Formats: sequence, C-alpha cells, structure tokens
Amino acid sequence: MRTELDMELLGQTVQDLYRFKQGEVMSAVVHLGMRLELFDALADNDGATSEALAEATGLHERWVREWLHAVAAADLAQHEDGAFALTPEAKATLTQPDHPAAVGGVFGPPITHREIDRTAEAFQTGIGMTWDEHGAHTCHFQAAMGAGGQKTWLVPVILDSIEGMTDRLTAGATVVDIGCGAGVAASVIAAAYPASTVIGMDPSGHAIVSAQARADDAGLTNLEFRQGVFDDLAQVDGVDLLLTLDVIHDLPRPGDAVRSARTCLADNGVWFVADIKTRGGLEDNRVIPVLPLMYGMSLLYCMSSAMSEPDGAGLGTLGLTESVFGELTAAAGFGSVDSREFDVDPLNRYYEVRV
Ligand SMILES: C[S@@+](CC[C@H](N)C(=O)[O-])C[C@H]1O[C@@H](n2cnc3c(N)ncnc32)[C@H](O)[C@@H]1O
Repeated sequence: MRTELDMELLGQTVQDLYRFKQGEVMSAVVHLGMRLELFDALADNDGATSEALAEATGLHERWVREWLHAVAAADLAQHEDGAFALTPEAKATLTQPDHPAAVGGVFGPPITHREIDRTAEAFQTGIGMTWDEHGAHTCHFQAAMGAGGQKTWLVPVILDSIEGMTDRLTAGATVVDIGCGAGVAASVIAAAYPASTVIGMDPSGHAIVSAQARADDAGLTNLEFRQGVFDDLAQVDGVDLLLTLDVIHDLPRPGDAVRSARTCLADNGVWFVADIKTRGGLEDNRVIPVLPLMYGMSLLYCMSSAMSEPDGAGLGTLGLTESVFGELTAAAGFGSVDSREFDVDPLNRYYEVRV
C-alpha cells in the first residue's frame, strides 16, 4: 500500500471529492425541478427564455434563470442566446414517468439531517434503521429506482422465463409479493393477469399506503396490500408464485425468512427471488460501474435495515452472493435453486426456487 503523497493523485482526489459534493447539490437542483414542475414546463416549451418559463410556471424569473443555468451547466438542457431546451434524453428520463429509463422519481427530497444523525448513532449502537423509519419519501424514491424495469420487463421477459408460469398466471394463480415496497411489481402483475389474485405484503406502513394508492388509481380489484413480514406468510397458503424483489439482503434474519417462504407455497409453487448481482468481496465488485452508490446505499438503507434488530445478519446491498443464498435455501429444505441473469436488468441476479 502507498504511503507517499502523489501530487497528481492529490489533485485528482480533490476533484473526485468535489464531484461527490456536486452530486449532492445537483440532486437538490433536480429535486426542485421535479417538485416545481420546471422540467415538465421546459419540455412543453422548447427554446423558452427564463422570462417565458417563469411566465409559464408562475415562478420568479431570477430563480428560474439560475435554475436553468444549473441544469444547462449539467448538460440536462441546451442553451443558445438565452433560449433553453431540455436534451431529448433529459426529457425521456425526467418528464416521461412511463419511459423505461425514467429516473425523475429517484430525486425525491434529499436525505434529511434526521437520517444522517440516526445513521451516525447507529455506528455507536450497531442498530440501524428500517426502511419505514426513513419516512414516506424514501419508499417513493426506492420504488422509482426499480419501476422502469418492473413496468417494462418483469412480465414479458422475467416472469415469462419460469416454465409454464405465463399460462398459470393467465388462467388464474395466487401471487404474493413479499417485501413489495410501494407495490409497483404487484400492480404490474395484477394488471397483466386479471384472473390472478395478487397480494403485496410489507412491514412498512408508508409503503403500504403508497402501494394501496397505486392500486386504487389503477382500479385494480384483484390486488390487495397487507402490512406484514415474512413470518406472516404462515397465514397464506397455496401460493403459486411468491416474489421477493431485492429484499433478502435487507433482512436482519434472512434464514428465518427463507424458512417462512417455504411454508406458503402450493404444490409446484415457485419462489422467485431477485437480489443484487454481487460478486462477493469489494475488489471483485469493482466491475459494477456505480459501486460507490451501491455501498453508500447499503450504509444508509440496506445494511442499516439488515442491522435494524440486535444481532442482525447485516448482509447489505452487496452481501447476498449466490453461495450465501444457496446455503440459506438448502438449510430451509428447498430442493432446487436455478439462478439466471437478464440483459434487461444488469443489476440483479434472479433465482427460481422450488421445494
Ligand atoms: C429495497 S426494498 C424493495 C421493495 C420492492 N420489492 C421493490 O422491488 O421495489 C426492501 C423492502 O423490504 C421490506 N422489508 C424489510 N424487512 C422485511 C421483512 N422482515 N419481511 C418482508 N419485507 C421486509 C422493506 O420494508 C422494503 O419495503
């Protein structure tokens, strides 16, 4: 390991650190643009000046102008002679919520002082925060991170890879999404398969409120959300498809959860699990392009959740390797685990688990 100060690398490190600060500040700038509907207004007014955009939004021109300069400096908008237009890519990602690459929802309210204080405290006590403890804003941004893929690929590509499942769902099956969060996946499946019954379960009250609102908006009558944890799967039986999307690494007691999953399945039922495609250790994981984001998310959310009870397993975002999952499922008495990856979802590895 190096100990001598390298002046070139020193400059690079200062730049890197300011890039992190820039990310924090620009997250707030994008959040303001979403919240004040400035991106939508700009998308509707290609070539608008700051005066025209202020007029269209009813906002103060000087503030709108500085915001435009910030988003143009970040190359989200183009600028010519005082006229601004979003780039086509910024339009798609920030103003079209149903676009597969939509990420606007990720820019909810920035992380609060309360969350930072609570996380600093967790370094002393060892006890982290549940997803629910962060508040409603977190469940919205968490759902937004996976929503594009879940709306676009989950039904036609990912679930269709389970032999016979599309036919079973079309004919009418019982589906449970455990750890459903804000209910995007459960809603997508209920809408695609009206003859099936879909139940979403999550311990977070914020998540269930958000999921229920989504189901009500869509008028889905074959979809129900319940507050509950893996242990509550004991109250459900005959499940044809149990889904668990990016949850296992968040659990303080993953072994107990995997045992509970086994109890609710119908004969020939499938437990279909997605979890982050970790390679195991830090160095092996360097192939992941957004690795600092993943470990940072883990510290603030996933590992924190997995440490939210005394003696929590603390797997975290990058902690559920294929071999760890294999050990957990074997210990719970599952007979087979078939893992697969999809080009449409480079972040996750999927497991088809059967008794
Ligand atoms: C990363 S989020 C994933 C949400 C959703 N599946 C998705 O793909 O957007 C993890 C979810 O697991 C839930 N969770 C935490 N502990 C749980 C438990 N013991 N049983 C079931 N869900 C749990 C959290 O409340 C949170 O909503």
